[in-house]
Amino acid sequence: MLLEGKHLIGVDIGTSSVKVIQVRKSGKGYHLLKHGVEKLPPQSIVDGHVMNHGAVVDALRKLFRELKISQREVALSISGNSVIIKKLNLPLMKAEELEEQIQWEAEQHIPFDISEVELDYNILSENPAAGQMDVLLVAAKKDEIQDLVEVVREARLKPLVVDIDAFAIQNVYELNYGYSVGEIIALLNVGAEVTTINIVADGISQFTRDISNGGNMITEEIQKQLQVSYEEAEAYKAGGTIGSHEVVPREVDGIVGNVVDSLAGEIQRSLDFFMATSNKGEVQKIYLTGGTANIAQLRASIERRARVPVELLDPFRRVNYDDRKFNREMLRAQAPQASICLGLALRKQKERI
Ligand SMILES: Nc1ncnc2c1ncn2[C@@H]1O[C@H](COP(=O)(O)OP(=O)(O)OP(=O)(O)O)[C@@H](O)[C@H]1O
Ligand SMILES: [Mg+2]
Repeated sequence: MLLEGKHLIGVDIGTSSVKVIQVRKSGKGYHLLKHGVEKLPPQSIVDGHVMNHGAVVDALRKLFRELKISQREVALSISGNSVIIKKLNLPLMKAEELEEQIQWEAEQHIPFDISEVELDYNILSENPAAGQMDVLLVAAKKDEIQDLVEVVREARLKPLVVDIDAFAIQNVYELNYGYSVGEIIALLNVGAEVTTINIVADGISQFTRDISNGGNMITEEIQKQLQVSYEEAEAYKAGGTIGSHEVVPREVDGIVGNVVDSLAGEIQRSLDFFMATSNKGEVQKIYLTGGTANIAQLRASIERRARVPVELLDPFRRVNYDDRKFNREMLRAQAPQASICLGLALRKQKERI
């Protein structure tokens, strides 16, 4: 028998920082026990590959030590070019048949060598009248999973689940907002290097895409145009300054606006693709999260193109916490960067008995 065990520690290893969250179930909702963020030096992770093992291991060890987390079992996630998610419409078949068929389907639909990927699938819906079923097929490159698993083991942690960013956000949305019938929403996580899109109708993922673009593009453009350091450009982007410079140069707003607009354009192309290829109808609302969601111009730019409301996703909407342990304002400021990590912390250890 398979028993649902305790919650795993959510560990989100992003390009710009490592995030850690621990929750516990409390009544109908969740209680936040631990939350921490540790910045990574630039280039620690490139294209989903861990380039600087030492930096990531140090960040993990520091977080677990400072947060005083003794539990070692963690949930990780991957995103970007190493993950392919496809929705397949197949003839209705039994579970054992699907198990065999899926390998063949994967060979048709996955542009990687099948021996190099981990496959997973999930039956989304069955329609006996039409003799059909919808199946979600997920393929993730083994070497990138291995990369993450290794670095986490080096920090003496036990990775028990490897999730996908797009699904982690979906879980966070479900927890905080629930679903209503006929609802079609787009969940966007805009991080440093990757933008994840997940379009969800009636609680089921219909379309996912990861775009290799995010907040780093803005920082790099500020660096290039104003001839400043990475740290200065990061500070300017967030509306602040560092060191002796006391004002944000007035060019910054325009540079941010331009990069953000091209990112919003890329996002819109994906939304258009979904609308053109799906019979589900139009996206009614967009929820935005990830560190780059902090940039007000991004939200405005997406809204202008998509012509539907864009709202900041609040990952802690239905998560309670002790006011003496967490500063409300600080938690609110960190919330966009915490969404995926919270999604991972919702995952449980499955125990066989
Ligand atoms: N207040 C802010 N204003 C503007 N940008 C911000 C702010 N806070 C964070 N960011 C940007 O958000 C990005 C980091 O977001 P996030 O933590 O979601 O990404 P990540 O998980 O490290 O990266 P990825 O998921 O792309 O690998 C960085 O580009 C950072 O500069
Ligand atoms: Mg991220």
